[in-house]
Amino acid sequence: MKRHLILVGLPGSGKSTVGKVVAEQLGATFRDLDRMIERREGMPVERIFAERGEPRFRELERNTMAEVLQGEPSVVAPGGGWAAQPGELDKALAAGYVIYLKTSVTTAVERTQLHDYRPLMLTDDPFTRMRELLGEREPFYTRAHSEVAAGPRELADVVHDVVDLARRQAGW
Ligand code: S3P
Repeated sequence: MKRHLILVGLPGSGKSTVGKVVAEQLGATFRDLDRMIERREGMPVERIFAERGEPRFRELERNTMAEVLQGEPSVVAPGGGWAAQPGELDKALAAGYVIYLKTSVTTAVERTQLHDYRPLMLTDDPFTRMRELLGEREPFYTRAHSEVAAGPRELADVVHDVVDLARRQAGW
């Protein structure tokens, strides 16, 4: 039986990029939580943080994930902070197959510098910030069912490993 495939990892680990291609290859629906929240709220994540605060964003994240997990099996890419909320990972571990896209801090910083929509990375010292995030979150990320090396590494190779796990372990 097919189960949700849930990708966790730092900002810049490739959850959205990998997830989209994996979903195409599996013929699955791709759910990008940040984009779903932005569509519903009618504003970008950074504005939700600025105008409503991080706790409200986290609540939207939890609610959206709960809804997604109740739906048909899909490939799910939550934001990097979702998995570090108490109890959230347990729900995902029960409802699907969770993969940690493990990336180096340097790669995560380099990739996030290409975008401007990450409010938690608005800092003068992104390396220290990313190291802190990894320290806080890795105890959660490492509870995933599997880990896939996600960078520095070619997208096609990461996708290959995730698709392989989906087929062997998650019923795809
Ligand atoms: C966040 C990561 C972002 C987004 C929000 C908060 C985080 O998603 O959800 O800015 O707490 O790490 P990405 O992991 O896709 O960057």
